[in-house]
Amino acid sequence: MGYTYDSVAGSDAAYHMSTYTRRPVLFVKGRGMRLFDDDGSEYLDFVSGIGAVNLGHAHPAVADAVSCQMSRLVHVSNLYHVENRAQLAEELSRLLGGEWRAFFCNSGAEACEGAIKLARRWGRKNKGERAVRIVTAERSFHGRTMATLAATGQPSKQEMFAPLPHGFSHVPLNDEAALAAELDDTVCAVMLEVVQGEGGVHPCDADYLRAVRRLCDQRGALLVFDEVQTGFWRTGKHAFAYQSREVLPDVVTLAKALANGLPAGAVMARGEASRAFESGDHGSTFGGGPVICAAALATIGALRAERLGENAAAAGARLRAGLQRLASDTDLITEVRGAGLMLAAQLGKPCAAEITAAALERGLVLNNIGTEIIRFLPPLMCGPGEIDTLLSVLSDILVEAGGSS
Ligand SMILES: Cc1ncc(COP(=O)(O)O)c(C=O)c1O
Repeated sequence: MGYTYDSVAGSDAAYHMSTYTRRPVLFVKGRGMRLFDDDGSEYLDFVSGIGAVNLGHAHPAVADAVSCQMSRLVHVSNLYHVENRAQLAEELSRLLGGEWRAFFCNSGAEACEGAIKLARRWGRKNKGERAVRIVTAERSFHGRTMATLAATGQPSKQEMFAPLPHGFSHVPLNDEAALAAELDDTVCAVMLEVVQGEGGVHPCDADYLRAVRRLCDQRGALLVFDEVQTGFWRTGKHAFAYQSREVLPDVVTLAKALANGLPAGAVMARGEASRAFESGDHGSTFGGGPVICAAALATIGALRAERLGENAAAAGARLRAGLQRLASDTDLITEVRGAGLMLAAQLGKPCAAEITAAALERGLVLNNIGTEIIRFLPPLMCGPGEIDTLLSVLSDILVEAGGSS
């Protein structure tokens, strides 16, 4: 309280490592889709803390569950049972459908790191000592720890941190033949985002995913879906993006919206994969703590009760149609991609940062990926009025940026 944008930005520049180029705004409050800055100005949030606040800001059900648990028990570690950890595992298993077992951690990178370790443990048990390789997609993003960075198919993010752990290879997305050529006895898993997020919002084709499942079965590799960004109804009426593609993975990684913006992650596995870890193989001090589990249970309960998946499908369709209209009205948008409320506009000119900066000045929080992609990840209660406001402001900005109308 009492901080100004200038004092905070000054201290940040002096005392914080500069891994982020922060936008010139100080958000101090949020409610639903709205954010408020230190001057009391209101913004519509189309970023959701990078796809984490699916239920909207400051949801009372999550706030109550967290504050209730905070005053009861905060932390005892994974050496002991807590009342709600197994309940959350069971709830996630139900959402995934079938019988799944969980390992809880604190972030998306940790969840993917856990899945990598699980796959290698499974590979050694089931295929032999050489089965340690993991195949992922070009342009993929799985995190910033050393192993998840090695899994990430973006050389620009990796180069400065070599040598990275060995045993990862990257294939072009939606290319069955390229994957088939890569799968041999040394591969223990294929890991994919059903819709690539950080790589620019590129969906996997349903046919491709079916082929990947078939190839994994034929060659004896686990299929891991990284649903860190796509999970919890982000892509529409199904809780997880793969559920609309009718392909069942062996392992699913979760984080981001799991606890509506609090740090939480999970590795979910079924069948033999769910029994690959043995006591002492993996661990986390904080993962699956009582406060996070309370937040996650409240989040899932409210997402379901408020039928936000159905809203994500309807609102996503409206936003997509509006963006496509903008694409035909102005020549700046060349393609609209994504699913549900995980959408991107591909630009024909490298002006995405300028557009998101202009949008912020007009009360819209947008995200650009690189210089030519604008991404839209609003909270899932986003309504038609908010979408129409976005489209109208964006239309003006696109014309100003040089798109003809
Ligand atoms: C698909 C995917 N996996 C993993 C991660 C890493 O998550 P975190 O930043 O919580 O470590 C991200 C983050 O954007 C992601 O989008």
